[in-house]
Amino acid sequence: MKKIILSLLVMVSSLFALNGESVYTKHCASCHKMQKPKSGLLAPPMPSVSKRLQRDIKSKENFITFVKDYIQNPSQEKGHCSPKAFNNLGTMPPVGKSLTKEERDAVALWLYENFKHPEKIKSCDINH
Ligand code: HEC
Repeated sequence: MKKIILSLLVMVSSLFALNGESVYTKHCASCHKMQKPKSGLLAPPMPSVSKRLQRDIKSKENFITFVKDYIQNPSQEKGHCSPKAFNNLGTMPPVGKSLTKEERDAVALWLYENFKHPEKIKSCDINH
């Protein structure tokens, strides 16, 4: 019985991870790249976003709550990006409004889990 529950848990969590990543690919990757592009930066790279938010927001729960809210109601007052980033890139459009609640949950969890070891992220400029 324990084994069944365990493998179910593994299945469910990998399902979530998969789903979160596919939401990212479909709805975020056009602006948030995995690495800083050489030119034509549209948004801070996704590892930088996760790293900065993990640095500023200590708990996983608050991180996820912040992301789910921010993608629906972004604003410079709430954002953790530098004023320079807002001047150069503008404020993010509220792309999360067109996602389902499940998609928002999944992408927010993915943004946390996929970059869980911020100290290991090297190619990332946290000033943006
Ligand atoms: C049209 C381009 C665009 C798309 C698509 C986009 N973003 Fe953004 N995003 C931005 C820009 C530009 C910023 C920096 C300015 C700001 O914070 O509003 C940003 C900032 C953010 C921040 C805040 C970072 C911080 O440190 O405060 C989060 C979180 C975020 N995006 C998540 C997402 C997620 C998740 C998706 C996909 C569901 C997404 N974005 C899709 C352009 C985009």
